[in-house]
Amino acid sequence: MLCTAGPSALDSAAAALREGRLVAFPTETVYGLGADATNAEAVARIFAVKGRPTGHPLIAHLADASELDRWALDVGEDARRLADAFWPGPLTLVLRRAPQLSPATTGGRDTVGLRVPDHPVARALLERCAFPVAAPSANRFGRVSPTTAADVLAELGGTEVACVLDGGACRIGVESTIVELVGEAPTLLRPGGVPAEAIEAVLGRPLAAPTGPARASGMLASHYAPTVAVELVDTADALGVRARALLAQGRRVAVLGAGGAGEPAVTVPADAVRLGDVGDTEGYARLLYRRLREADDSGVDVLLAVLPAPSGLGRAVRDRLHKAAAPRP
Ligand code: TXA
Ligand code: MG
Repeated sequence: MLCTAGPSALDSAAAALREGRLVAFPTETVYGLGADATNAEAVARIFAVKGRPTGHPLIAHLADASELDRWALDVGEDARRLADAFWPGPLTLVLRRAPQLSPATTGGRDTVGLRVPDHPVARALLERCAFPVAAPSANRFGRVSPTTAADVLAELGGTEVACVLDGGACRIGVESTIVELVGEAPTLLRPGGVPAEAIEAVLGRPLAAPTGPARASGMLASHYAPTVAVELVDTADALGVRARALLAQGRRVAVLGAGGAGEPAVTVPADAVRLGDVGDTEGYARLLYRRLREADDSGVDVLLAVLPAPSGLGRAVRDRLHKAAAPRP
């Protein structure tokens, strides 16, 4: 199932997609589980493999920004500016959908999330396809997104995925930022790999916050969750205090997010499991899901994580940590 992403594997992967089968592939954010976005049966296989509720729309991936007007209607000035500035890259634009996309891809909505990923393997695959590739993150619904091909196999091994293209570890590590451009004001549906500040600078105005019921599954309270319980603290000092209290109750504890380069040294109790350093905010984003998986593998009862500052990629990391720590359904 695992394939090194050379030209012949890419040709076979594109052929599998054309036949309506599923292919997992790397992007700069996380690995995606792809299907032909114009083929309802193929898209239905994604929902079946992930165990994802069918009303949750998928992102359609394009090889190039020049395809925008083929798959979206009423593309306005804001969308063009953002595509120019950030594509290829970790930004998804929600626009009115073109009719040739399968409604299965968009969860029956009249809008579609479009993105041009910035990863050589993803682009080589997309260039071989005459259709957009619908792809959610390649994990079971509600679980941690995979950032390596091995993590995809851990999530989806034994399912009907034709192949997992190996493109190494993902460079950004958290999913794309999602901006909806269909209403009155551009709205931030999910913080992600492009900082909101950078988007606001291009638009020349602030992004609105979403109102009404959750429109993205990433907007559900519990999501991106490891098996282990997750607790969050605001500072490295609070981490030490809470770790000692939990250890005194006989709980096994792992700690994350403190003591990276340039951060004050924390006195983490010796009997807590110290997951690898994440470094700066970009490092925290890149390594977050890997560390959540390591926390599960370490067999602890509780993962204690320090929240990064809420700027740049820190907003996406905080969002994912809050969802990992939320009460599970
Ligand atoms: O970085 C990413 O975005 C990755 C890689 C593979 O591209 N994909 C990803 O897909 O994170 P997924 O399905 O795990 O998350 C996509 C999010 C969901 O929360 C979905 O609800 C939202 O995008 N979404 C997609 N189309 C939408 C639409 N038309 N309106 C509102 N939300 C939409
Ligand atoms: Mg996902």
